[in-house]
Formats: sequence, C-alpha cells, structure tokens
Amino acid sequence: MSEADAGAKEEEPSKEEEKPVPAKQLDDRRSMSMDTNDELLALHSVYYNGKALRLQVTSPHIYYIVFRILRKVCNAIPALAVGLPLNWDKIEKPDNNAVVSLTKQYNRVAKPFATNWSGSYNTDVLHEWGEPNCNKLVATEITGYAYECAVPRPADLNHYYKSFTSETYGETNLEQMASIIDELKIGSHDVFVDLGSGIGQLVCFTAALAKCKKCVGIELSPTPANYASNLGDYFKKLMSFFGKNCGKYEHIQGDFLNPKFKKLICEEATIIFINNFAFSPDLMFRITNELLQELKNGTRIITTKPFGAHKKGITYRSTSDINAISQTIELKSMESGVSWTAKEVKFYCTTMDHAKLIRYYEEEQRKKDPNYNPVREESEVETKFCTVKRLP
Ligand SMILES: C[S@@+](CC[C@H](N)C(=O)[O-])C[C@H]1O[C@@H](n2cnc3c(N)ncnc32)[C@H](O)[C@@H]1O
Repeated sequence: MSEADAGAKEEEPSKEEEKPVPAKQLDDRRSMSMDTNDELLALHSVYYNGKALRLQVTSPHIYYIVFRILRKVCNAIPALAVGLPLNWDKIEKPDNNAVVSLTKQYNRVAKPFATNWSGSYNTDVLHEWGEPNCNKLVATEITGYAYECAVPRPADLNHYYKSFTSETYGETNLEQMASIIDELKIGSHDVFVDLGSGIGQLVCFTAALAKCKKCVGIELSPTPANYASNLGDYFKKLMSFFGKNCGKYEHIQGDFLNPKFKKLICEEATIIFINNFAFSPDLMFRITNELLQELKNGTRIITTKPFGAHKKGITYRSTSDINAISQTIELKSMESGVSWTAKEVKFYCTTMDHAKLIRYYEEEQRKKDPNYNPVREESEVETKFCTVKRLP
C-alpha cells in the first residue's frame, strides 16, 4: 500500500483482512496487539509532496497530538472539516475513540481533496506551511510535535540524570538555537555536531532550519539517547507529512571522547555545539586537550561556558591556553534560553584560529625591533598544542 493510501486503511478493510482467521493465529494477533497497544493512527497529507502520517499508538498521548495536528490542518483548510461534528475543534481534549473517528472522517475528505490540490505549494492558503523549506516557526512546531511524541513526560528526564555532574540534564530552547543559527549564519555548507546531545531536539531542529550538510548528535546516557532515536523517527514522519525539506541527521549513543568520533569532530565538523554548563573540570580538560586542539582552522564551537578567555588577548603567560589559538565572542542570549533556569544563560562562540599565536609572537618581535619583518614564506611553527602553518 502506498503512503498516500494509509489514511484509507481503517475505512476499507482489505479483502485479505476479511478472510476468516484460524483461531490460533487470531490469539497471536490479539496478544501482539495487547502487548504493543499497536493501534495505528493515519492522517492523509494535503501538503505538496507530503506523505501520510502513520503513528503507532505506543501511548495514549499520541491521540492528543494527532488531534492537534488534525485541528491545525483543518483550521488552515476548513473544507477538510466537512463531515466532522459541529464544534469538534473546540473540545479541549477529546477521548481516544473520538480521535479515531475524527481521523477516519477527515481522511475520507482529505484523500480526494489532496488529489485535486496537488501540483502546487498552495502558499496562498497555507502560508509558510505550504513552503518546501521550514522557517523558524514551522521548524519549531514540527520539532515540538516530535518531542512530544517521543517524550510523553519531560519531567521524567530529571529522574534519569544525575544532578550536578557532566550528565546533568538541561536543554537549549529552540528559540535560542534559532538565534544562534541566524547570528552565525549556519547553513547548508556546515556540518553540525552536538557533543552531549541529550534527547536530540537541537539536531533535528538544526537539520530543519539550517539544512546543514549533516547534523549529528552524540549522547552518552542510554535513556536520553533512546529518546533521541525515537524523536528522530517521529521527526522524519512529521517532516514528510508536512512535505518539508531537511538536511541529513543522525543520533548516536556513545562517548564523544571515543577516538572513533575523532574524524567526524576534528575533520568534518564546522560547527560544534557543547552545552557544557554543568560539565566537570575533568571533562572540560579532556575536551580541550583531546579534541579542541585538533580542530581545523575556522571550526566554530558554541558553548554555555566559554573555552577561551572571552575578549582577552594573549599574554606571555597565556601562550599555552586554548585562547592562544582561538577567538571567543559572546552570542546573543535569550531569557529562558535553556530549560534549567528562567535566567539568561550566556552562549559563546569560539572560532579556531591557529595563526593567532604566530601573530602574537610577530607582534612581540616588532616591539623589540621595529624593523622586524617576519619571513613571509610558508613554514611550520611548533606551539604547545600543535604544529601550525605560517602562511606567507
Ligand atoms: C546539558 S545536556 C545538553 C543537551 C543538548 N545538547 C541541549 O543543549 O539541549 C548535556 C548532555 O551531555 C551528555 N554528556 C556528558 N558527557 C558526555 C560524553 N562524554 N559523551 C557524550 N555525551 C555526554 C550528558 O549526558 C547530557 O545529556
């Protein structure tokens, strides 16, 4: 059955489903259905290039999310609500059977409607929801639905995390992430890596809004990593339903210090996100010594605690700091930019700049000898961190 036919499945049982089923097989089917509570809710897509949304009801909260999506689509195109009961959309929280029946009735109308409507983005009616690319609002809402599907009770996340350790839970809000994407002009030329990606909402959001070449999240703790994997699956279905373009994304469970990630982090990444607010000094030391010093020139690292001494130049004493081979600036920060406090948490961007130390030494030489003219040939200079190329 094609994706586009998904919505019709519940209305017209196929011939195969009508055949008598042997008693043993029926028992097996029932127990499978009871074990997994595997009712399938399907919504036909009326978006250009959209695919039917098919969600397994793994938990009752899925009914309510489907109801809200249905309401959203019918509010945009009231003709789709023909046949739905009067004031159906005013109900605060319909019961599960009502949602099933609303989706069936909607699908009966949406399917032929979509056939007539297809071939155009219909932005006159759908506005930004008809566009093939997500703007901030659309990316935020779709990521929000995926989050709600994958994480029914966000408060539970706090139970899995150890407080005041490197694994302490805390999320960056999408509004803050959108501001960072805008300020740093993150786009399709970038490879975005979230080191300690939690439930992975930033990875999906960045894939939708910035459409990076690749977005990868690496998370150590198995519970949030599982949520991230589910969130990624829901996100894919939702983006398809709304017919939206998206960059590639991946959620990986693992320790970002594991050497197997070195190529990704040090050679491929152009933007590295580290919400290091609660990271221990030990972990910070290892990140600086095992990863940062090997990043390629121009790589930008976004953090909630600055790596480099913000705004400071190099001094004789600090030639071995990370600051000696990078520049750190403060980014625009929002109130409530993170989940763990309503206060403003600052975000910083450190850009790797290996030539900074060379420029410092040249400047020092010039102070001693105003006629000093550095050799303008390509050569290599040893720093505490690494060997850097001195360009002519
Ligand atoms: C504060 S959360 C940030 C989540 C997400 N990046 C955000 O800003 O919304 C930090 C995450 O880093 C993870 N973490 C800490 N050390 C790690 C390591 N060595 N490898 C991978 N993840 C790690 C923690 O488990 C935690 O989920």
